[in-house]
Amino acid sequence: MSRTSYDWWAGVLMTPGKLEDWLKRQYHSEASAVNRIGKLKEKAEAVGVREGIEGSNWYEWEALLKMISDDEAKHAGQVAKLMLMRGLEPKILTEHRSKYFSKFQENMDTSVLGMTAVAAYAELTSLTRFQAIMAHPETPIDIRNEFKTILFEEEFHYAAFRRLAGDAAMERAKFRHQQGLQAVQIEA
Ligand SMILES: [Fe+2]
Ligand SMILES: [Fe+2]
Repeated sequence: MSRTSYDWWAGVLMTPGKLEDWLKRQYHSEASAVNRIGKLKEKAEAVGVREGIEGSNWYEWEALLKMISDDEAKHAGQVAKLMLMRGLEPKILTEHRSKYFSKFQENMDTSVLGMTAVAAYAELTSLTRFQAIMAHPETPIDIRNEFKTILFEEEFHYAAFRRLAGDAAMERAKFRHQQGLQAVQIEA
């Protein structure tokens, strides 16, 4: 956990309306992750063999992507529960564009491994924030309870995507990840 993500969360907790805005964006991010993983799976099916994913390796890809996608759908449900308790409507935000992803999408490496590396760094960015949420003593108890499992699963997603992407693709995507972090003002 970086100091700045802790400060970010402290700011969310103390500013009226920010917790609600964050929940809305978080729901969007969990729910749309299911679609993003679906697209990655389609692409891996279509061109994966050309990029060196085949045989027993493909079996691992399929199994891990399915597990991650199921987890993200579950996370969306968990965040929806936190929203409904606060009178908020969980929905996909059509106008929302993450500052982090906008940076990443500039000159993005659209190979299967490149996209998988982006997914790994996105998980890393989320889990850094979730660590701050868990560490802060004033995090509301219902949020703490849900994010305890979400954090654990995002750690698994990060490790799984990193493994599937491989070191070379992770290294290639690193610079854009750092730029994305700067865009949301969290340190690497
Ligand atoms: Fe998630
Ligand atoms: Fe995830």
